[in-house]
Amino acid sequence: MASNRSRIRVGVIFGGVSPEHEVSVISSLQAAAALNRERYEVIPIYIAKNGWWYSGDHLLNPDTFKDLDDAVDRATPLTLDPRSYRTLRLRPEAPDSWFSRPPEPIEVDVVLPGLHGSEGENGGLQGLLETFNVAYAGSGVLGSALGMDKVQAKLLCQQLEIPVVDFVSFREAEWAENEDDWLARIEDTLGMPVVVKPARLGSSIGIAFASDRDALDDAIEEALRYDDKILVERAVQPLREINCSVLGDPQQAQPSVLEEPVRTEDEALLTYAEKYMRGDGSSGKGGGAPTRGAKQQSGGEGMASLDREIPADIPDEMAGEIQRLAVKTFQSLECAGVARIDFLLNGESGEIFFNEINTIPGSFSFYLWEPSGVPFDQLLDRMIEVAIKRHREKNGRIRSYDVNLLSERSLQGVKGQKQ
Ligand SMILES: Nc1ncnc2c1ncn2[C@@H]1O[C@H](COP(=O)(O)OP(=O)(O)OP(=O)(O)O)[C@@H](O)[C@H]1O
Ligand SMILES: [Mg+2]
Repeated sequence: MASNRSRIRVGVIFGGVSPEHEVSVISSLQAAAALNRERYEVIPIYIAKNGWWYSGDHLLNPDTFKDLDDAVDRATPLTLDPRSYRTLRLRPEAPDSWFSRPPEPIEVDVVLPGLHGSEGENGGLQGLLETFNVAYAGSGVLGSALGMDKVQAKLLCQQLEIPVVDFVSFREAEWAENEDDWLARIEDTLGMPVVVKPARLGSSIGIAFASDRDALDDAIEEALRYDDKILVERAVQPLREINCSVLGDPQQAQPSVLEEPVRTEDEALLTYAEKYMRGDGSSGKGGGAPTRGAKQQSGGEGMASLDREIPADIPDEMAGEIQRLAVKTFQSLECAGVARIDFLLNGESGEIFFNEINTIPGSFSFYLWEPSGVPFDQLLDRMIEVAIKRHREKNGRIRSYDVNLLSERSLQGVKGQKQ
């Protein structure tokens, strides 16, 4: 990769230890291809399924990932080098030869996290990047963590008067104490049917509908296999789903046009397998590259059964309200860069409910920005601009004092205070 220091070095981190590994590869390679090469040098940083980090130019080629083992065999393992502050420094593993020179470290100016789910999206990676003081696109630690915890996100929305469906949540230990009590309480407060979800997962994993007490019991036991925190919600029926992407930061943010995923099947819920394992399993999470048109298909055959309507066919006033709520949610949950906020709409009453926020949305929601007048390359420009601005702001504030509290004199003072 030719180095040209006038360009910003963007490290795209993708893959990851998550069921959404493959979806992340698709989203990130789409973004890598769209990044303007006159402005950016693109450095792929691939996290294999076992959590190890790799680089190599071939990792920018989608064909590489047809065989994940081969992709890793041909890649160079990386280690993180903490002797850098403000850039991310990665050390490629030296080749097994006495004669070869140790490889140059890879320096990254801005990270574009392209991971879906788990530590890549829940604030874990973001915390690591904060510790290394590296600029990174997307939401920070708090926004990412709130986005990943469906209960916390809903509690915050309730406080902000952003409507959410009625819900009950509990921990495994509370459940184990008195299962019958919980079953009765859920039925009393929410009625039936309900939707049971692990609180901190995505991709519909562990999510089930329940229309009676036995099914509810089973659904909770199943969800507990994935998370010890459970969320049970009143089911919205008849359901329409409307999603809105938001771009910006907590100070200034704009909404995209809306999409409505349209189920072509009878099932109200697609399971993970149904969602991703059909066709060639590519793309999901609203990923893929839909073509223009009133009714668009989600490109990636993995979501072949899912069409989407862009813009969603709803009255202007309702669309405006959803966009307002989306921006409010984005800003209140401390999000940045791009996020997609998903709403549940009662097809009969017209009630709108916040359902969840995806802080690293599939395909970075580019397919919602193109019809909003922001092509993918400009969406990424904006995300990187926001990343650099936030990083500058953080570094422009006083963050440490140039005083050694462990110096002889200071220690005397500290001792004195303690006595
Ligand atoms: N309260 C509800 N009433 C009716 N349907 C619901 C409700 N909550 C969720 N669903 C259905 O289940 C799907 C998955 O739920 P949710 O989005 O909360 O989970 P997720 O794990 O983030 O899944 P995904 O990544 O597939 O969106 C929703 O897209 C919707 O179709
Ligand atoms: Mg969802």
